[in-house]
Amino acid sequence: MQKFLAAVVSVLLFCLSANGAPARQVRPDTLRILAIGNSFTEDAVEHNLHEIAAADGHVMIIGNLVIGGCNLERHWRNAEGDSAVYSYRKIGADGVRIKHPKARISTTLADEPWDVLVFHQQSTLAGKPEDFEPWLSRLIQYAKSRTPRRCKQMIQQTWAYAQESTHEGFAVYDRSQEKMYEALCHGFAAIAKKHRLGVIPSGTAVQNSRHTFNRENVTRDGYHMHKWFGRYLLACTWYEALYKTSVVGNTYRPPHLQGPRIALAQQCAHAACEHPWGLTRVDFDNPFDTSGGNWKPDYINTDPSKVPAYTLPDALTMQDGRPVTTPEQWYRQRRPELLELFETEMYGKAPGPIDGMRWEVAEEGPALEGKALRRQIRIFYADHKYITILIYLPADAKGPVPAFLGMNFEGNVTVSADPGILYPEPNYARAYRIYTAPARGAQASRWPVEDILGRGFALVTFHTSDVDPDFDDGFGNGAAPLIYKEGQDYPEPDQWGTLSAWAWGMSRVLDYLEIDPGVDASRVAAIGHSRLGKTALLAAARDERFAMAISNESGCGGAALSRRRYGETIRFITGNFPHWFCGNFFKYADNEDALPFDQHEFLALIAPRPLYVASAEDDSWSDPIGERLAFQGAQAVYDFLGLDRGLTGYHIREGQHELTREDWLHYLDFAEKHLKQ
Ligand code: GCU
Repeated sequence: MQKFLAAVVSVLLFCLSANGAPARQVRPDTLRILAIGNSFTEDAVEHNLHEIAAADGHVMIIGNLVIGGCNLERHWRNAEGDSAVYSYRKIGADGVRIKHPKARISTTLADEPWDVLVFHQQSTLAGKPEDFEPWLSRLIQYAKSRTPRRCKQMIQQTWAYAQESTHEGFAVYDRSQEKMYEALCHGFAAIAKKHRLGVIPSGTAVQNSRHTFNRENVTRDGYHMHKWFGRYLLACTWYEALYKTSVVGNTYRPPHLQGPRIALAQQCAHAACEHPWGLTRVDFDNPFDTSGGNWKPDYINTDPSKVPAYTLPDALTMQDGRPVTTPEQWYRQRRPELLELFETEMYGKAPGPIDGMRWEVAEEGPALEGKALRRQIRIFYADHKYITILIYLPADAKGPVPAFLGMNFEGNVTVSADPGILYPEPNYARAYRIYTAPARGAQASRWPVEDILGRGFALVTFHTSDVDPDFDDGFGNGAAPLIYKEGQDYPEPDQWGTLSAWAWGMSRVLDYLEIDPGVDASRVAAIGHSRLGKTALLAAARDERFAMAISNESGCGGAALSRRRYGETIRFITGNFPHWFCGNFFKYADNEDALPFDQHEFLALIAPRPLYVASAEDDSWSDPIGERLAFQGAQAVYDFLGLDRGLTGYHIREGQHELTREDWLHYLDFAEKHLKQ
């Protein structure tokens, strides 16, 4: 490889391709590579690779001949028949991307004096070297006669699927990731040797990354690469395999990835290039390590004396500097201005109700030994996509009752041991990465259903995954795609992240509650713990139909001030949960003072409705002091608006980050005061 590169580098300002195509000017350090593949080469070469090379001063011209799912046999038949069936994507020396439809292998080979040609085999067949033939041999010969003599031929090692992948072809490997990876190592090693092909060890890089803190967060759907991490990892692998230069330390910064994940991808790629045919355990210091709930002290501040000096923005000053002098001005001008800022800079905008949404009763009947009426409703918001809501109504209710509406973390079945709660349907659950059915009642301690019903309230809950599964999949599943325009496959920087999508889901459930005979939709409190507390606040801030908001230990991105940089910070939360916020929010990592707001103003958006904020003493990750200060900042706005202090409630209890019965008893008292009249 080095030799061949040297040849490219030392050479020629002019060169002549083997088929006699006209001579072209070539920059001495330009590397021209062409992949003949499918969506797996799209993941590898169409994102980041050009930029990684540029950061090291190299110029690349990248071509990719793509047919979705294409295998070597079909590539050969297309070559033999000279079929114009490819999408030829080309990234020029200047980084400009062009797509040519209906391209042929023959003309694409003649399009540039390629330095490297990379073949790719479809993943289901990739573990069996015998299935490569005779197609690969034929393609090799075919390409040799049409490319410059120096053109090096390589092959990309495919990667194994996620262990829980639903890919049909996984059956070939007995649905075992380990087996698939082993087959891909043996198979590609044999093929490479037989044809003297260079190898791009993408499969091993992917496998290395699975044995780090990043675990399975490398694919987006079980087999295609994750849009940020996985694609960057492949590009790093290709870069090092092509240039034989370590990618570790490369300075290009891919979008949406934080330093640790960038460094991790580089090291996994580098290890794969050094040891292509087996796993390397990359020893990587993970500042985001959540195991056991311990955050590495080196990376976070939990020392109150180290809170930096900061100045909070004044909630009662408009962005243009004018003071807010009347409650009317707050409601008419300042509140909408702040809401707009929170939507565009932090959480991302959400649509309203979607046309054609419909609901059906999935189940209904007495429950909890006669104390409750249980109703389970499916709200369909797209083909085959629905939110299943679980409603418990007090059995003795004489009319519509006020309700608590909050999402649950692990499925409706975890809310109570009640055997009547529906499990998600297997296919649906799989698509959302819920592989093992959660145990009934597993989170029942967070939902004291009998207390709630006993005090005359309904409980309404649904699972986060029904709206957007809580992992960083590149916004391909759940409700995320609902907002996409033609050709769009990722939210714009001011369009929703997951918290915003969840809050949207809460509003859609409220739409339904407006017609439910058992619930009084004008008396519904939005409630949530932790990430779901952030969401409950957002839902109520945005949708004024919510009669109350309750934040249980919502912390960073919820009730805690960002500028204190205590416990979880914007850098951590966007690094660890890149899907939660909108793209615009990333620029505030380590740059909190640039935020045009702080979270006291977020809480103030709930006014004039009742607001409750709760913290736990040992929950330093959520910054209880930051939550209290934000709460007080919001109270100042309630005071300015002439609202009764009783409309704001707060407690801090002993203990850890949790939603407990004790917390609920406070909420029930508070709600009784405000939602029972
Ligand atoms: C993590 C995250 C917090 C979040 C919490 C939760 O700890 O960093 O921001 O509130 O998870 O939702 O449980």
